[in-house]
Amino acid sequence: MQIVRTPGSARAIARTLLRPVGFVPTMGALHDGHLALVDRARRENTSVVASIFVNPLQFGPTEDFEKYPRAFARDAELLEAHGVDVLYAPAVERMYPPTFATSISIGPLAESFEGARRPGHFAGVATVVAKLLHAIEPTSLYLGQKDIQQAAVVRAMVRDLDMATNVVVAPTVREVDGLARSSRNVYLNATQRAAAPSIFRALSFVAEELLRGERNAPRILAAARAMLEAPLVWDYLDIVDPLTFAACDPIVLPAIVVAVAKAGVTRLLDNVPVAGADGVLPLVSMERVIPLVSQARVR
Ligand code: PAJ
Repeated sequence: MQIVRTPGSARAIARTLLRPVGFVPTMGALHDGHLALVDRARRENTSVVASIFVNPLQFGPTEDFEKYPRAFARDAELLEAHGVDVLYAPAVERMYPPTFATSISIGPLAESFEGARRPGHFAGVATVVAKLLHAIEPTSLYLGQKDIQQAAVVRAMVRDLDMATNVVVAPTVREVDGLARSSRNVYLNATQRAAAPSIFRALSFVAEELLRGERNAPRILAAARAMLEAPLVWDYLDIVDPLTFAACDPIVLPAIVVAVAKAGVTRLLDNVPVAGADGVLPLVSMERVIPLVSQARVR
């Protein structure tokens, strides 16, 4: 695995890779959710690039940029073991020199829910993902359903700016008790960790009610909100339209049940997409079945 540190060297090396090229951007502190994206990129492409960059642009002034977990040596070993060909890990100064001033603004999709709670967050995500895509020029970009509004925002950017990459959104990887894997789960104390699976139980309850035909959103949501275990408190739990990320009113499927529960200052983000009548899950990409002949790994 080659490690590259600057946008110029990343592009030069990425251009030598055999296509298709799959790209998995991360902020490091890797867990099974990240590695599932790498494994899928590995299955669906001839070459795989991953990035590790804790992006200051997407953290608010009171957020955890400084204390965000960093574990570069371990991450690099994991990525190599999972078959990554190139790891792009730029320094902040290389990504954002003092003259840096451009920002990508997405519009209303980036202004509800996570966008409303974290002003500037999605502009920071879109801007860094655009920079990474320009450096790597991948055939496909792999994102997690875990951050579903982020996935929707990046898809919108790629479409609106005619970027030449497919966006693949892979299902959320969970602990056995249902808690979505997250680099921020290390912040939880024992009591918070024990209560955390109640987030996914509440989300699943809403999804099941919708699937069995219940359409009274206030009633479903009130019952689901009562399922959260102390000391967690809801930031939000709602049912949104997958195209706009506005709260659904009235409820029409497909929809996405989105939630953030707070454990002290730690925000635990999760969601459950609910398919429409055609059985297709919103935003999540089914795995492509690849003919055996193209599965050979060419290094
Ligand atoms: P990070 O939080 O490190 O996540 C990197 C990728 O892993 C994202 O696409 C995220 O949705 C996915 N992911 C995280 N937890 C997951 C889980 N439990 N199951 C499946 N996928 C999961 O998201 C970011 O970094 C950044 O915003 C980034 C896109 C890298 C831009 O800075």
